[in-house]
Formats: sequence, structure tokens, C-alpha cells
Amino acid sequence: MKKVKRIIATIIATVMLVSVASCTAVDTKTTAAATTKAAAAAETTAAAAAATTAAAAETTAAAGTTFKVGVAMPTQSSERWIADGANVKTQLEALGYVVDLQYAEDDIQAQVNQIENMITNGANCLVIAAIDSSALVNILAKAKSANIPVIAYDRLLMNTDAVSYYATFDNFQVGVLQASYLVDALGLTDSTKGPFNVELFAGSPDDNNATLFWNGAMKTLQPYIDSKQIVVLSGQTTFEKCATLRWAQEVAQARMENILSGTYSGGAKVDAVLSPYDGLSYGIAAALEGAGYKVGAGWPLITGQDAELMGVKNLISGKQAMTVFKDTRVLASKCVKMVDAVLKGTEPEINDTKTYDNGVLVVPSFLCTPVAVTKDNYVKEVIDAGYYTAAQVAG
Ligand code: BGC
Repeated sequence: MKKVKRIIATIIATVMLVSVASCTAVDTKTTAAATTKAAAAAETTAAAAAATTAAAAETTAAAGTTFKVGVAMPTQSSERWIADGANVKTQLEALGYVVDLQYAEDDIQAQVNQIENMITNGANCLVIAAIDSSALVNILAKAKSANIPVIAYDRLLMNTDAVSYYATFDNFQVGVLQASYLVDALGLTDSTKGPFNVELFAGSPDDNNATLFWNGAMKTLQPYIDSKQIVVLSGQTTFEKCATLRWAQEVAQARMENILSGTYSGGAKVDAVLSPYDGLSYGIAAALEGAGYKVGAGWPLITGQDAELMGVKNLISGKQAMTVFKDTRVLASKCVKMVDAVLKGTEPEINDTKTYDNGVLVVPSFLCTPVAVTKDNYVKEVIDAGYYTAAQVAG
């Protein structure tokens, strides 16, 4: 009788194990725990194994309705991250996840602490848009040892093996779009055009994206710098010289003021500015205004990124020539699908397995498509697309 019971228990244990292993609504943490527990129990008695595994399966089923996702965003000082956070949260909640959304206001240690709390509070998955792409190595190692999958959001997490997937835009292409706009608007494919004075700005050196934006832009502009149709009068042409720590508007404004007073005080005029982000474009525009430039004839072409509301208004007024629209709703939905797949033990959709080497591994990625926006197409791209209302843009 004892033997029969044991055989039945073994069968139950095996069935439970298989069902736990193939259960689609299970996160890696719970799966691993259930498997380890069941394996250990099998060494003692099959009955105990059955009980343990059944309990684990119940926990899994219960947890299935309350999976927690920690979402760590860098700052609320820029519109896009507010939209990103809101979109990710809403879309995850619509799938039944419990979301802990945190902003660290560009304070690296605060972001580390927030992620630590998410781990302590039992997050089943983490979505992280880093402030400093390399500063999270230790805390991510903790997430990994707790079997919590990590999705890098928009900014790649560097120097870690703890990142599973990356949802972003084609960042190199962002730079290509910004620079191509300048090439077209200045008519540079006609080799008789120029020379034009162009000043260059890059993003934050601790954000991997900044390098990609820069590389895309410089690959596009370099031939015209070589042909001397573009002249960078300040002589500041390296990423290091042009970088803007933490993407800060005031840092860009101060650098532009220095360039204007140092290089252009003799009467030379700036024709265009490569700016990688709307926030920097505002600072650059303020510096130009301070030096006497006026929107209209003689106002330089200024690029940007993110299609912030102010950026779009500036397209209409002529203060900014272009921006790059990256629809945060689309990025959020790609990321949310990754989270859902990872927690269900399925494969998320990816479209790039080559580009994003974080120093430890090439992170499987989904790259969304960025769009160049000017005053000629903003209605179609951002208003008809429902990103802003006409009233918001006009107001
Ligand atoms: C993002 C840009 C953003 C910048 C500043 C980058 O990582 O990809 O969209 O403009 O950070 O927030």
C-alpha cells in the first residue's frame, strides 16, 4: 500500500513538475524555485515532492494575477520620460501587472536605491531606463541572482550580463536624420554650396545613446566637413568636446554662449547647430537670442529630438528647424510585450541581434523607427497620429 501511494505520488509530482515547467504565466524566479524545490523533494520522498510542487504551483497560479514589475525611469525634467513612464505603466496594468513606477530625477544613487527597493519588494521583472548606463552593474547583479529578468528601456544597460532584452529606437538613425536634415536644408549635395558655419552638440557621455546619435550624425556630416562646405568655427569637433553631461539645457546654453563670445564675436554668423535633443536646443536658442540673433532671417537651423511639446511649438514659430519624433506609445508597447513574454516564458519579438554590444554581451533588441519632423509634416506625424492635440500645439 505504501508502495502504491508512493507511485501515485511520484506520478502526481511528475505531472505537477511538467505543468509548472510549461506554465506560461510563470516568471523565471518562481519556475527556478519550483524546480529546485521539487528536485530536492524528489530526493527525500515522492509524496513530499508532490506536496511541495503542488504548493509551488498554487503560488505560481496566485502570483500570476499579481506579478510585480518595477519600472525605473531617469527623470521627470524631460517630457518624454513622463510619457514613457505613463505609457509603460498603463499598458502593463491593462495586462494585469502591478507596477511600481519610479523616477530618480537624474540622481544615480537614487536610481540604484529605487531598483534595490523594487528587488526587495519582490519585483518579478524590471524595466530600466538608466541615468548612467554603466552605473547599475552591482544592483543588476543582485537582480540577476534573484532571477529577476531585466529589460533595458531606451538606453542600453552597459557592462552587465543581467540584461535580457532591449527596447529602443534606431539610435544611429536618429543622428542620421538630424544631420541629413542639415545637409538637405543647406543644399550641401550641390558642391558649390557653402561654406556654412555649423556648431556641434552631443548628448550625455554616460548615455550609450549619445554616442550612437553622434556617430550617425557625424557619418553624415563628415564628408561635408572634409569638403569644407561645413566649417566648425569653434574647432570643437570631438564627442568629448561637444558632449553635454546629463543632457542639461543650461550646460548646452553655457557652452553655446562661450562659443558665441569666443569664436563669433568678430562678426561671423552661425548658420546651423546640430543638437541631439530638444532640451539642448532650447538652451542653444537662448544663447543665440542673448547674442542678438532673432528668429527669422539669419536665425540658424537648429535640430532636436523627442518632439517635445515646446519643440513642436518651436518648429511652428521657426525657432527650431526639426526634431526627431520617437513615439513613446510604440516603444512602451514593444517593451510591455517583452515583459509579458519574459514572464510567460515565451520569446519576445526582436529585430536586431547585432548592434547593441554592452561590453559583456550583444543584447537582443527591438528597434523602433524614429521620424524626422519639421513644420511641414508635424500635423501628420504628431497631431493626426494623436500624440498631441492641435489645441496643445497651438496653446
Ligand atoms: C533618449 C533621447 C532623449 C535623451 C535625453 C536619450 O537616451 O534616447 O530620446 O532625448 O536621452 O533625455
